[in-house]
Amino acid sequence: MMAHKFRSLISNKIIQVLDGFPIGDRGVKPSTLIPYIQVDPKAGSKPEFQVSLKALQQQGLINNDLRNQKDFISCGSALIEKFDTDPTIPGIYLVQDKTDVRLNFKVNNSQLVSEVVKITTHRPNSFWRCSALVNLLPFQKVVVEYSSPNIAKPFHIGHLRSTIIGNFIANLHAALGHNVTRINYLGDWGTQFGILKYGYDARNITEKDLEEDAIKKLYEVYVWANQKAESDPSVSSKARDIFNKMEQGDNRELETWEFFRNVSIKEFKHVYERLNVKFDEYHGESMYSAQKCQEVLKLLEQKNLLQTLEDGRKVYEVNPKQKVTVVKSDGSSIYLSRDIAAAIHRQEEYKFTKMYYVVDNSQSDHFVALFSIIRNLGFEWAESMTHIKFGRIQGMSTRKGTAIFLQDLLDEAQEIMMQKQQETETTRDDVRLSGAETAGRVATSCVLIGDMKQRRQRDYVFSWDKALQSRGDTGVKLQYVHCRLLSLEGNCGVDYNPEANTSCLTEPQALTLIMEIARFDEVLVQTYRELEPCILVSYLFKLCGTINNAIKLLQVKSAPLEVAEARLALFMAARHTLAAGMNILGVKPLSKM
Ligand code: ARG
Repeated sequence: MMAHKFRSLISNKIIQVLDGFPIGDRGVKPSTLIPYIQVDPKAGSKPEFQVSLKALQQQGLINNDLRNQKDFISCGSALIEKFDTDPTIPGIYLVQDKTDVRLNFKVNNSQLVSEVVKITTHRPNSFWRCSALVNLLPFQKVVVEYSSPNIAKPFHIGHLRSTIIGNFIANLHAALGHNVTRINYLGDWGTQFGILKYGYDARNITEKDLEEDAIKKLYEVYVWANQKAESDPSVSSKARDIFNKMEQGDNRELETWEFFRNVSIKEFKHVYERLNVKFDEYHGESMYSAQKCQEVLKLLEQKNLLQTLEDGRKVYEVNPKQKVTVVKSDGSSIYLSRDIAAAIHRQEEYKFTKMYYVVDNSQSDHFVALFSIIRNLGFEWAESMTHIKFGRIQGMSTRKGTAIFLQDLLDEAQEIMMQKQQETETTRDDVRLSGAETAGRVATSCVLIGDMKQRRQRDYVFSWDKALQSRGDTGVKLQYVHCRLLSLEGNCGVDYNPEANTSCLTEPQALTLIMEIARFDEVLVQTYRELEPCILVSYLFKLCGTINNAIKLLQVKSAPLEVAEARLALFMAARHTLAAGMNILGVKPLSKM
């Protein structure tokens, strides 16, 4: 129920008014209206919901003849006249601005407060799931593919963003009750493995050398061999031979390759752990080697979708201006053909109703081609695939250089954070003792929030200073407010009482906080519609501001028992809301800092 009870009540009442109303539509279900009934963002401490008349018109509930402000006002007034107020919804009035006319509904303060606090404290890990708004979303079987680094090449910033944003998308779907499969699709196939293996042999490297820092060492070897290949064509041809052997299933070559793959995954997993990221499956391009791609090729040829060029390549025409290679002249598989095979395999395996590829903007053309091919192969599920794009980050480099190894990045963030902690006098002693661990986790929160604060598609300039600031909108703030609430709960001298009398929460600061909490489901749904983490991030910052104001004014310790219990319940509701939001973003809430 939560604030959702009010949404349902209001929509039922609107429907009653519309029914028999000259311009209204009959037979409308409340579910049509619920998404349009929103907490009034300007209400402040007044518990009010609102609905836009323009939105009702878009739903076909109000006559299209209404064009100007005056028409809308007279329609709104007529609706108000017919509307029956009652103790739960004691008032209704019109609000107008330049672009719209809205109906505002006053709701019963103490009923709203009690609903919101109770549901949030009783079901801290799922309170938003009882929202009618959330329940209107159709169930999805979702595959989210994210991170997908290349083995033996550095994990670059694009992979970091994919990891952060993809993890968020998977968390969000899971929080909303969908079935989610998280896939890491490793770049573990292709001629670069021939080059790597060539370098590995030529420099007499052994497995023992790779016991530590395997990814960095493999990368060094790869760079070395690549440079050599540039000046010596025989290296490239050797590398190609090695890869061809791999494609044909040569055990000796595959053994080394498998070793590279395993040590890399092992290291990636450490870093993912620091980032609080998990996968259900580690897939890789290697699963779709030449043979699998042969089947794809057959399908494409049956449908007459390929042209053979003079040089022997087989290409697919995405549009008259864009042709893409699907098969190389030597018949070996490539990135695109592997992706076609992978998509088909995933549909068979997971029967997804949605699949998200979380990959940077620069691969847009690739995904346009992939989706077009799947569509033209006649797979109706082509429409359920989406490329979740994101922009570049400029200026994110570590002291050691611009090729980013994620581990260095996180280490550096942690170091800077520790320095900052030591400089801050107000840092509590026990925090200084728990030093590195806490600093590491706060720093990770900062990296995550710093990234998700922006609209996905925007390129942005990264600055350590900005991301790790303790003031302003950073990960530090979210963690700090969360810890502050927990410490308040532990030190306020009263115990949580599920039956607390919440009707003593009448101060504007308390009501503003309630309204902010009541908005959580709306924010989740909007975040889900746009798959933009920044919507949730900016909500959480606003929530933190509201919490801070409330903490200042609503003392718990010194208040009479009844009031203290009610305030404690309110602050717990606020903490659960904050924690739920942070968890969805992949930021693990800390208990002290
Ligand atoms: N490994 C690729 C890269 O680093 C990204 C893979 C994206 N996913 C896909 N299905 N193509 O560029």
